[in-house]
Amino acid sequence: MKLLVCGGAGFIGSNFVRQRIAEHGDAVTVLDKLTYAGREENLADVRDAPGFAFVHAGIEDADAVADAIAGADAVVNFAAETHVDRSIAAPDAFITTHALGTFMLLEAARERGARYLQVSTDEVYGSIERGSFTEESPLLPSSPYSASKAGADLLVASYHHTYGLESLICRGSNNYGPYQYPEKLIPLMILNALHGDPLPVYGDGGQVRNWIHVEDFARGIGHVLAHGAPGETYNVGGPDEAVNIDVVRRIIALTGAPEDLIEYVADRPGHDRRYSLGSEKVRALGWEPRVRFDEGLERTVEWYRDNRDWWAPIRSGDYRAYYERQYGRSLGR
Ligand code: NAD
Ligand code: TYD
Repeated sequence: MKLLVCGGAGFIGSNFVRQRIAEHGDAVTVLDKLTYAGREENLADVRDAPGFAFVHAGIEDADAVADAIAGADAVVNFAAETHVDRSIAAPDAFITTHALGTFMLLEAARERGARYLQVSTDEVYGSIERGSFTEESPLLPSSPYSASKAGADLLVASYHHTYGLESLICRGSNNYGPYQYPEKLIPLMILNALHGDPLPVYGDGGQVRNWIHVEDFARGIGHVLAHGAPGETYNVGGPDEAVNIDVVRRIIALTGAPEDLIEYVADRPGHDRRYSLGSEKVRALGWEPRVRFDEGLERTVEWYRDNRDWWAPIRSGDYRAYYERQYGRSLGR
């Protein structure tokens, strides 16, 4: 299959591209704007694969998209601004990429007659105290991140309804694993623990997230692309839920860091308490997660421990200024 993968230089996109090339022999063109979160280094091991190409452009750039989509059977769109805290501090780029960018991609897919898969998030449903969201749950997003992702989902659905585009939506729960930028909970806590930096827990640390290993999510996306019904949405949730403070404690145990690095800090405004995703619909298509959280977290800690060359340039670059703005303190060396 020939795929156009937008946002393929980011965390989940690069894991997806690696999997498609290794397990399916796909010819992949990655189109990516290379924001702070997108790095060509994430694709270093697939750069020389047959049929691989990289285009440096934004999805909102109609001309670049029109060129890149030529010959593609399907478009998979990972391109997004993805950090809730950044969406609270500066929402602008979230609106441009999710609204305008998704629109440009949909137009290109419609013109070409390509299948289209939008990668989305459980955060579009908002927070849930008990039970799990299904694909029929109402969209009640809380942050500029999740609201703009929900808007993109609605636009994708409208292109199926109105124009008959073969579009699909995959809503994932919280991903973790290799190549995740250390602004997100798990890599941030791992790297801080390895460096003896404080571990900033928002509020009371009692929030719950439904964790999925990135390889399972990537496999779920590929499965929906191949077997999903056009116009449908599929939740792809992980097998385990965990309370934030317990995740931090497990990382302390795995890294051997001292407990007293934990520091409770001001809560995130509008912080969603719990996410939980029911995935019966995609399971009925034959997908199921393979990696339990205990095993996946251990492997992830090992990956960060073994891949200093990957994170050292991030941790010594612009990320330091981001960290100071976000946490009001500087990182150690
Ligand atoms: P990421 O921040 O690691 O990567 C995003 C990628 O998109 C980067 O390579 C970036 O350069 C690129 N990008 C940003 N704006 C762009 C634009 N305008 N044009 C082209 N490229 C652009 O994100 P991620 O965690 O890999 O998330 C990928 C997708 O999965 C997103 O759509 C996100 O909403 C969704 N998702 C993420 C999670 C999670 O836990 N990380 C969970 C569920 C769904
Ligand atoms: P995050 O990784 O930002 O993902 P999301 O907000 O999209 O679920 O955060 C996961 C959880 O961890 C969330 O409840 C916020 C919390 N958190 C902290 O307590 N401290 C931190 O430094 C970060 C980044 C997140």
